[in-house]
Amino acid sequence: MGNELRLDRFLADMGKGTRSEIRDAVRKGCVSVNGETERRPEQKIRPGADLVELDGRPVTYVRTEYYMLNKPAGVITATRDGRRRTVLDLIGEKQRKDLVPAGRLDIDTEGLLLITNDGALIHRLLSPKKHVDKVYFARCQGRVPEDAVKTFAEGIVLPDGLHCLPAVLEIAEYGDGCTDVRLTVREGKFHQVKRMMEAVGCPVVYLKRLSMGPLVLDPALAPGEYRTLTENELELLRTL
Ligand code: URA
Repeated sequence: MGNELRLDRFLADMGKGTRSEIRDAVRKGCVSVNGETERRPEQKIRPGADLVELDGRPVTYVRTEYYMLNKPAGVITATRDGRRRTVLDLIGEKQRKDLVPAGRLDIDTEGLLLITNDGALIHRLLSPKKHVDKVYFARCQGRVPEDAVKTFAEGIVLPDGLHCLPAVLEIAEYGDGCTDVRLTVREGKFHQVKRMMEAVGCPVVYLKRLSMGPLVLDPALAPGEYRTLTENELELLRTL
């Protein structure tokens, strides 16, 4: 599996404690490598070739992890927070301690969120130069005017002066005092969808992200549920 790394780093990357906790555990003899107790935290390990055990349990080294989360409302898009639940708190089986969400959704927004430690992929998804499509479902107050489709297609200028890139607005359904829309945007400005809908007089009352580039929210995931990405999804993301 390639590059060697120090034993303390190997265990820290796998979330087995802080570097100093791990060094203590190693010095106390809690760690073995290929069946022999190893008391040197600096010992070089070849992931995939050497067998590392902590308290008698094997630790497998994982370089990258990818999770698709259906973010529920009420959870913040952050790695940790003293008070509130974060999207990372929802990923029970994670191993890497350097996982981060790819972009952010507001606390009340639901839907697709990719969580990974693959920094290059996050960069490709979020880089303003790449213009990756993000598709949202929004329920908006009132009747979204039909001419908003053209206004958005041309690139709406928000009251605060922000020029939005052309976006695709599809009016899905007019309901009782509300309109359901799908909106495809190619950038990720702060509160972008809410600000765009507000600008045409129809504030968002419910927002859900459906897709990001080639990655589509799995309809089998209820809010709060997650799964690892499939090989096929990883392949699609590599083409970005
Ligand atoms: N646009 C918003 O206004 N909020 C989100 O969470 C995502 C996009």
